[in-house]
Amino acid sequence: MLLLAIESSCDETAVAVVRNGREILANLIISQIDIHARFGGVVPELASRQHLQAICPLVDAALAEAGVTLDQIEAVAVTRGPGLVGALLVGVSYAKALAFARQIPFIGVHHIEGHILAIQLEQEVAYPYLALAVSGGHSHLFRVDGIGEYRLLGRTIDDAAGEAFDKVAKMLGLPYPGGPVIDRLAIQGDASGVRFPRPMLKKANLDFSFSGMKTSVLTYIESLGDQLDENKIADIAASFQEAVVDVLLQKTLRAARAEGLSRIVVAGGVACNSGLRQEFLNTCCKESLDVYFPSPVLCGDNAAMLAVAADEYLARGACSCNDLNAVSNWPLVEAGQEFVVTT
Ligand code: KG4
Ligand code: ZN
Repeated sequence: MLLLAIESSCDETAVAVVRNGREILANLIISQIDIHARFGGVVPELASRQHLQAICPLVDAALAEAGVTLDQIEAVAVTRGPGLVGALLVGVSYAKALAFARQIPFIGVHHIEGHILAIQLEQEVAYPYLALAVSGGHSHLFRVDGIGEYRLLGRTIDDAAGEAFDKVAKMLGLPYPGGPVIDRLAIQGDASGVRFPRPMLKKANLDFSFSGMKTSVLTYIESLGDQLDENKIADIAASFQEAVVDVLLQKTLRAARAEGLSRIVVAGGVACNSGLRQEFLNTCCKESLDVYFPSPVLCGDNAAMLAVAADEYLARGACSCNDLNAVSNWPLVEAGQEFVVTT
């Protein structure tokens, strides 16, 4: 099955060509960061407009890089949600129109389903596994028993981890997106410089909260007044990152123990974080747990990640209908249950 995949849920337009749900022939991404950076975050209307401009040439470029023509594409996959509805609609409308014109099936995939299955493009991770999805919009723990079989174990009750990174960076006067900047600064800083709280760790459940941590950073910055210099910024970055990673790690370990799972997949943009990777690797090694991270290009938003689920659903005879709409708020556990089975 030769699949064209399209992702446009936020501020990256992405197109991939993937064979048999595993072999990536092209995986192209156009980031809109430069456009949104001056506003300190993603501006939805600008995002939609940029997707509209980028999508046609990007599909052409992906086909050329893959060395295939449109005639050879057998199905189209697209992110249906969650995300910015105007941004999602660009991808969904394009995918539907293309599939209709070519008379090939198309399928709407859940964005987080893409993230937590992306690892399968690089190495086969046996089911069941625990997935920690950490991105700009999500901090969720799922039990993954197979493609389409997900159980939500815990989630953030307020901000997502990536959102907290971005907001703290903004407080420190650092550019958007803040995650990669804080990651770089944290390497130079002293993580024991400030002890930020670890919210929800004492609660027995598997939920997260990052809003209070963010407020503590703000209070600390305000207390410094004009003493906030480059060294202090690096210490705050290191201390904040350590606090986020600590909470993510402790809750993930708790979930793995509760579910009796020995494999952990960390996915989404925040899974690029070097401190997070190191801490998870060290601790999981001590605890005899296997931890997997996709390559950075497959952690952040991309279209190839949609192919794993799309290929499987299409092979089961499922596909989406022409009236499929984008869904800005779509729980993962409901995804995969709404397809029309054609065979
Ligand atoms: O998965 P993703 O590309 O898009 C969403 O689905 O949200 O994740 C983007 C998020 C942003 O909040 C960004 O700051 C964060 O991932 N991020 C990082 C790093 N790289 C990206 N956070 C911490 N450390 C990083 N190295
Ligand atoms: Zn994402």
